[in-house]
Amino acid sequence: MKVISTEYSQILAARLANAMKSDLVDVRFSRFPDGELYLKAGQVGDEVLVVGSVTCSDALVQLVLLIDACQGSEITLVVPYMGYARQDKQFSPGEPLSARAIAGVLSREIQRAFLVNVHDPGVLRFFSVPAQTLSLAPEIGTFLKQRGCMHPLILAPDDGAARFAAEVAGVNGWEFDFLEKTRISSETVSMSPKNLVVKGRDVVIVDDIISTGGTLATASRLLYDQGARNVYAACVHGVFAGGAYSHLIASGVRRVYCSDTIERSCSEFSAAGCISDGISRC
Ligand code: R5P
Repeated sequence: MKVISTEYSQILAARLANAMKSDLVDVRFSRFPDGELYLKAGQVGDEVLVVGSVTCSDALVQLVLLIDACQGSEITLVVPYMGYARQDKQFSPGEPLSARAIAGVLSREIQRAFLVNVHDPGVLRFFSVPAQTLSLAPEIGTFLKQRGCMHPLILAPDDGAARFAAEVAGVNGWEFDFLEKTRISSETVSMSPKNLVVKGRDVVIVDDIISTGGTLATASRLLYDQGARNVYAACVHGVFAGGAYSHLIASGVRRVYCSDTIERSCSEFSAAGCISDGISRC
């Protein structure tokens, strides 16, 4: 099986090809004078893994074009980060169900799909082919250990992410907890770990996505107020919208780590091994 990717996932795709001992297919990307996207792919063979995170409109269009260029092959689609997945309900009349719309477009002409830590696995039902989501939580645990973290408290920013934190911590037998909000008054909310004390401890806040960084920046300041020694942040998908990275560092977070599902300078661990293993299990 060969591996081919959009411009937006080319580093992860190269790592994935390496992990799968597959060839990476060369693709040239350009634009027509009116701005329209164009690509030309090399030979893909009978089976191909098409890789592309949906981070923006151009990334989505490139992915759709790439799938089309691979027609005639058996296509396994890998969407490491699926943008639009969080609009997974019609919250009010007139809204699109964006996750359904995007999954529908991507399902055409493919045989199966793999996502990574999609925010809500419920969106998998919008694909019309078998689709599954893989978790990078174990990779985060392994990475933190390799970085020399010694018995940190792994903390989820809310109870919804508590299971993810448990998975990260479980790799090394570390403690985990989640932040619980307590309303003090109509205008004041306090947050502290549900069960454990952070005083004097190194804390790693883990989440599936860092978008604006607001959730983690608030958490970081509160944890220092409560005596944490160092606060770090690790996530799967580093969206970093609106200056989120700076916002986190300015809020005292010592280091921010993310995977290469979205390719960033701080992508310090890769989704390649997890995706390769997930595909070989099927
Ligand atoms: C929300 O449910 C997600 O798991 C993240 O906690 C959220 O997307 C983070 O958003 P932000 O970085 O904008 O606070």
